[in-house]
Amino acid sequence: MAVREILRVEHPVLRRKCTKIQTLDASLQRLVDDLIDTMRHANGVGLAAPQVGVPVRLFVVEVPKDVDEPHAGELHVLYNPEIIKKSELYYPEEGCLSFPGWVANVPRYQNVVIKGRNRQGKEVRIKASGLLAQALQHENDHLNGVLFFDYLDSMDQLRRVERASEAASAG
Ligand code: NI
Repeated sequence: MAVREILRVEHPVLRRKCTKIQTLDASLQRLVDDLIDTMRHANGVGLAAPQVGVPVRLFVVEVPKDVDEPHAGELHVLYNPEIIKKSELYYPEEGCLSFPGWVANVPRYQNVVIKGRNRQGKEVRIKASGLLAQALQHENDHLNGVLFFDYLDSMDQLRRVERASEAASAG
């Protein structure tokens, strides 16, 4: 287990469409461990594989256990995810570990159902709301090379923050 370097938005790997995973082999299992360590080390709510330079369809999400949120304390490891159900939009504040110090309000679905495979390779469906739903959408976007500020009409809508709390920064 190790904390890896989180790549910044300028890095081209963050704009790639990531590839599907056949099976979580030993090196991908190590990557999962490292994603969890790196996410926690950065106080993130989520982290996607391309953010540490590995362009595969895998991410981890964990809503901190001490926040007043549904799903607080749940750790999810998901690969080959697909959002299969969405509810109405809202505009929560969001940031990204690859773009520290900036947040903006972006459109997200309040509730989603996402399916994919967990660490054991089992197909799972996660029914999510609140911050977990937001983080799942943010991390899923990373697998398609999409960053949160792509939703903005203008980069002027970004706001500087002292330290993007990863409750705001999905990861
Ligand atoms: Ni991010």
